[in-house]
Amino acid sequence: MSSVDSQQRVLSGMRPTGKLHLGHYHGVLKNWVKLQHEFECFFFVADWHALTTNYDDPSMIESSVWDMVIDWLAAGVNPGSATLFIQSRVPEHAELHLLLSMITPLGWLERVPTYKDQIEKLREKDLATYGFLGYPLLQSADILMYRAGRVPVGADQVSHIEITRELARRFNHIYGREPGFEAQAEGAIVKMGKKNAKLYRALKRRYQEEGDMEALETARALLKEQQNISLGDRERLYGYIEGGGKIILPEPQALLTPESKMPGLDGHKMSKSYNNTIGLREDPDTVAQKIRTMQTDPQRVRRTDPGEPEKCPVWDLHKVYSDDDVQQWVQTGCRSAGIGCLDCKKPIIDAIVEEQKPIHERAREYESNPDLVRSIIDEGCEQARDAARDTLDEVRSAMGLGYR
Ligand code: TRP
Ligand code: SF4
Repeated sequence: MSSVDSQQRVLSGMRPTGKLHLGHYHGVLKNWVKLQHEFECFFFVADWHALTTNYDDPSMIESSVWDMVIDWLAAGVNPGSATLFIQSRVPEHAELHLLLSMITPLGWLERVPTYKDQIEKLREKDLATYGFLGYPLLQSADILMYRAGRVPVGADQVSHIEITRELARRFNHIYGREPGFEAQAEGAIVKMGKKNAKLYRALKRRYQEEGDMEALETARALLKEQQNISLGDRERLYGYIEGGGKIILPEPQALLTPESKMPGLDGHKMSKSYNNTIGLREDPDTVAQKIRTMQTDPQRVRRTDPGEPEKCPVWDLHKVYSDDDVQQWVQTGCRSAGIGCLDCKKPIIDAIVEEQKPIHERAREYESNPDLVRSIIDEGCEQARDAARDTLDEVRSAMGLGYR
């Protein structure tokens, strides 16, 4: 844990799959924008992960990488608050992936539910590769590299966070147990001074005997404040609260991204594979045209037929974009045939165009200045590498590779 407060660190990644849409915005990106003010955030483009399934045709990856980075920036992810980088530009991830592979039981990887699911789902591809089996391990390396305590992901990724936790535990168990750990930890306690030592011991006991999580938190906070113990001692004492060895790689927690309620143009969830999306940077005319041609309540054939909002995908969009008054206007107007479907769609078009205004504004700056985007990423990659090198130094020496 050295000087890293892992509870304050957030890391997340996205595979470069092309331009993002409003579903990504209402789900993931708004969440990132919020998190960047509260935590030390690392957000990265998982281009190696894209290669695990697209190794036979990587031609799309490059343009997708830049489109996605511009989408992040346009959505309001701020390079001044968060570190933005590209996975393959931080080759340290590959080394950690390799080192962790030494202690990763094959069965753990084979049992990750996404493994068989994806092979089933992408049956047209040959995914019987070493790289694809290692997908969750690479993700574990991404996370553990930054000792991130919190990882925002969708529900489909929770099993990957779980295997990451198990790997961290296994790693700490195998390599965190130096000879004489207990004696060293006891020595470190004394160095904190009488009062703190007593407090630490009491908290440790309360946690170990009663499972008191508050005591665990308090003990961690106490260690964080200590000025006169070495980094190594601090790590020992972190681990010692819980009884084990040194905690070299802290276990992360999934921060479940609230499921995007963003409906697509057809009433199903907005998703590229359903072909029902509105792009994050869609131009206003296309937005208007996409909404105008949306299917409505199929029973409402003529303008004079009353309709039922509950059977209409346009209503789902009103639930996201309209206030109570407009919603009331839709309900009554639709059921009484008082309004036409085009009238009904107008406030949605307006709301989306309005929402996208600041997005377009920010995007324009980056679209017209690719060098600016590159330099943001260059800087992010450097920052990420600095953090990554710190972890790797510790991992190497814990694994007996400290000679150089
Ligand atoms: N597997 C993730 C996805 O498909 C992307 C990803 C790669 C990731 N590495 C990560 C997410 C690390 C969070 C943390 O969405
Ligand atoms: Fe749908 Fe609105 Fe038309 Fe009713 S009036 S069918 S809610 S688009």
